[in-house]
Amino acid sequence: MAFPVVDTEYVKEIDKARRVLRALITLKNCAPIMLRLAWYDAGTYDVSTKTGGPNGSIRNEEEYTHGANNGLKIALDFCEGVKAKHPKITYADLYQLAGVVAVEVTGGPTIDFVPERKDSNICPKEGQLPDAKRGAPHLRDIFYRMSLSDKDIVALSGGHTLGRAHPERSGFDGPWTNEPLKFDNSYFVELLKEESEGLLKLPTDKALLDDSEFRKYVELYSKVNTITQFVVFVWFLQTFILSRLFCCFYRPYLHHTCSCRSVGILLRAYPANLFEQLTIVLV
Ligand code: HEM
Repeated sequence: MAFPVVDTEYVKEIDKARRVLRALITLKNCAPIMLRLAWYDAGTYDVSTKTGGPNGSIRNEEEYTHGANNGLKIALDFCEGVKAKHPKITYADLYQLAGVVAVEVTGGPTIDFVPERKDSNICPKEGQLPDAKRGAPHLRDIFYRMSLSDKDIVALSGGHTLGRAHPERSGFDGPWTNEPLKFDNSYFVELLKEESEGLLKLPTDKALLDDSEFRKYVELYSKVNTITQFVVFVWFLQTFILSRLFCCFYRPYLHHTCSCRSVGILLRAYPANLFEQLTIVLV
């Protein structure tokens, strides 16, 4: 397989846009909605038809007016300002970069960014994203369609460590954690508590407790609380979950780029219980 040609000018633009996004997200405190935007552009992926995914199609009115995307116009408009300064960057890359920077500025890992996603104007039909009112079988339907696993479902739900729900957008109200602008594992800690005063648990969050397979990962991630374990947690998110979510549609590309070599190796060599093994070693 030929190595893809990485446009060095494009990579420079990405670096500049990354700095602009860092400043913007810090100034506007908009990390949560930027992460939600990245996820909702990516989360329409269908592995069997190779449709949807992080292709920038969410910028089209037809898609951002889907019920699940309520409120995301705010994040799209923030990104439009960055696009105006860096027109060469595709929307598809820009939205994923915004998600990556959102994690970074809230205390999460610095994530290697794999560029060169292509924009599409083909919008998925409504209903490809998870419905917060439903349970475990629905979560599996949606995430398995993206070729993600039970472990991915739980770890990715940890994105709710950031931000809050807004009644006018989703009908739900409140944050999941006491520090919604801090990226850590407190989503899992709070989820395991019977009652967390003033904190939100969506039906899909509760489903992670009711299903024994999901619950074992919630318990595992809730224990990631010492400094060392936190580093492992962050590493795990960086190299596996986020890279897969935001780049899984570029796996062949990933496997052949130097900048993402480590991620590529992990994607190929990832053993099912790698994270558990590391956690046990470090406890
Ligand atoms: C597991 C299925 C998921 C469901 C059912 C779900 C549902 C929701 C709902 C209903 C909201 C509230 C929107 C609002 O009222 O503003 C929300 C917010 C949010 N979601 Fe999810 N979500 C899911 C997965 C994810 C994933 C995988 C991520 C990222 C990795 C994520 C990141 C966020 C963030 C950061 C917010 C807060 C946005 C803000 O503060 O404006 N969600 N989600």
